[in-house]
Amino acid sequence: MLLENRVAIVTGGAKGMGRGIALKFAREGCDVVVNALHIEGAEKVAEEIRAMGRKSLAVKADISNNTEVKNMVDETIKQFGKIDILVNNAGGVTGVQGGDTDTATEEDWDKILSVNLKGAFLVCMAVIPHMKKNKYGKIINLSSMGAVSPSVSVLHYHSAKAGMLGLTLNLAFELAPQSIYVNAIVPGPIETPFWDSLQPPGPGRDALFAAIAGKEIPLGRIGTPEDIAGPALFLASGLSDYVTGQIIYVAGGQPLSSHAATFLSSGEGPGG
Ligand SMILES: NC(=O)c1ccc[n+]([C@@H]2O[C@H](COP(=O)([O-])OP(=O)(O)OC[C@H]3O[C@@H](n4cnc5c(N)ncnc54)[C@H](O)[C@@H]3O)[C@@H](O)[C@H]2O)c1
Repeated sequence: MLLENRVAIVTGGAKGMGRGIALKFAREGCDVVVNALHIEGAEKVAEEIRAMGRKSLAVKADISNNTEVKNMVDETIKQFGKIDILVNNAGGVTGVQGGDTDTATEEDWDKILSVNLKGAFLVCMAVIPHMKKNKYGKIINLSSMGAVSPSVSVLHYHSAKAGMLGLTLNLAFELAPQSIYVNAIVPGPIETPFWDSLQPPGPGRDALFAAIAGKEIPLGRIGTPEDIAGPALFLASGLSDYVTGQIIYVAGGQPLSSHAATFLSSGEGPGG
């Protein structure tokens, strides 16, 4: 097993990619702290992990709230004594509409940046002192293809996710001498509850995904949480012990497609 005796915190671990990563790590022998905004979802995943014979703690905490973040980290140390792996996965655009130059607002900017960039910073600031103490850590930050190759205009979200790459590179540079590895995963479109507020499940979503997959993804399909969990496991384990400050695109080859041919910006996408 690749993560035996390791302890991980996965933020936003109740569903989607976070759940997929938490379960993958547990299968490899890792004890996992599952964080989410709502305790019920986190507890369900923690139960799944305990059923595999691993230890798991569900923690309700809003990652944009520093007090809640510090409590989560204190609770983790109390229960497990160390933190080897941190996955800054929590994020999204829930509760915010639009985001182009006609629709973006200052209020939405603050809200989105707070969850999708400041949140990861706060969790890092709380976790890293414990990693420094052990002279070991693996940090994995979730960005988005929209940060580097947007196919629809969402200024605040894409700026925040681009900020995740800056955070990754700076932390990697600073912390390498202490054997704390920091890398980013840049997901393409992955089928998770993330999409529910943008396009609810149903024939409309199926058609949208089929069109995106056909026109924008060289591998010809939308990704799954398992597609992200594999690269996350690589970055969390000893398989990547000479890898830090790297940005891994997990997007079905999407960076290979041409900007001009993007489906969402062609007027055929939702609202187009
Ligand atoms: N699904 C995609 O197509 C896609 C593509 C690129 C990047 N991403 C990013 O990948 C990450 C995972 O996305 P997903 O698709 O699994 O999303 P999801 O909506 O399925 O799950 C996100 C999780 O984060 C939690 N969360 C949200 N805000 C939080 C907060 N303030 N504090 C604590 N938890 C919070 C939610 O409760 C949920 O459990 C996110 O950062 C998302 O922005 C998603």
